[in-house]
Amino acid sequence: MFHITLQTKTGEPIMPLLSDPINIANLEIKNRTVMAPMVRNLATENGVVTKEVVEHYELRSKGGVGLIIVEAAAITWEHRIMKKNIGIYDDKMIPGLTKLADGIKKHGGSAFIQINHSGPKGHGKPTYSGPSAVPVLKGKIPEALTLDEIDNVTQMFVDATRRAKEAGFDGVEIHGAHYYLLSAFLSSYTNQREDNYGGSTENNARFSVDVIKAIRKEIGDYPLIFRMNGFENVVDGITMEEGIEIAKIIERAGIDSVHVSCVVDATYNPGIPPYFDEETQPEFLKEYPYDCCIPIAAKIKPHVKVPVIGVGMVRDAQFAREVMKKDHCDLLGLGRCLLSDPAFVVKTLDGRDDEIIPWKD
Ligand SMILES: Cc1cc2nc3c(=O)[nH]c(=O)nc-3n(C[C@H](O)[C@H](O)[C@H](O)COP(=O)(O)O)c2cc1C
Repeated sequence: MFHITLQTKTGEPIMPLLSDPINIANLEIKNRTVMAPMVRNLATENGVVTKEVVEHYELRSKGGVGLIIVEAAAITWEHRIMKKNIGIYDDKMIPGLTKLADGIKKHGGSAFIQINHSGPKGHGKPTYSGPSAVPVLKGKIPEALTLDEIDNVTQMFVDATRRAKEAGFDGVEIHGAHYYLLSAFLSSYTNQREDNYGGSTENNARFSVDVIKAIRKEIGDYPLIFRMNGFENVVDGITMEEGIEIAKIIERAGIDSVHVSCVVDATYNPGIPPYFDEETQPEFLKEYPYDCCIPIAAKIKPHVKVPVIGVGMVRDAQFAREVMKKDHCDLLGLGRCLLSDPAFVVKTLDGRDDEIIPWKD
């Protein structure tokens, strides 16, 4: 797909509507709305999908979401985010995952699942791992991965993708954001390696590129989204220029869409003071509410050909429609507004704005 902006006869740009379909690779998504991945702690203590998990996602698919990205699923059980995380670390998980993919698809939404290794963060682990011994959680010093371990984890991402495909998911999202393992490699704040996996933007991205290429080699054409921090409000973190560079590198590696998250306020901050606050933030962020990643997606969009997903702080229908008019992203990620109202999308598309149950921060 190419970023060609359609024009009227008089040369006015025609901006896409939230209700317009769009392709990710060869897959048609019925509208521009995306349910952003959000861990819910509803699986079993072994990571098996439960009835509650299926119901949670079915309800949002029924509510009109075009593309549902199921929460971060653990590619290895030792490195999950939550106690009752969804697991995708063993073929035994496939039957449960199949129920989940079927449940989403039967209501018309496309079904993706995010695959993750929690690296320097995560739930109750004996050991944390990362690019270097730089903690993301206070006092939890990660062990730097060896080159063999990098290869092993790469294979875990491939195996997880195969399981997602076998379970009937339309695609996967590789989690490269929020200082989990791949994200920690991507950021010079956490990555202080001196080998080929650190020291420059290209080297920091090498692990993610390895994962994408390994998936392509073994699985072939299968829709792949990569989620990344486009910008980090952290000393030595990803700058806007670097975010653009990373997006170009992962696009070249073979992804079909880039999902631009960010680290602006304290939510995903690796435990150190951010270097700006709402008052002192850069000018380009001020067009949107504080902590919204859409202006960062807007900076990346002109530099890649694949569809860009923007996300963050969408709280009402009018705002969602306005973002599409600005052409700042190709698809719009929705998080907490879908937790408070599973029918946020259908109400927005029907103009039933007053009926939306708002998220209260
Ligand atoms: C409860 C909760 C769980 C989340 N879990 C994940 C996750 O599994 N993977 C991920 O990439 N982001 C996760 N996020 C971040 C969301 O995907 C999203 O980027 C963030 O909530 C901002 O969007 P919003 O303002 O529309 O909620 C989570 C956010 C929340 C609130």
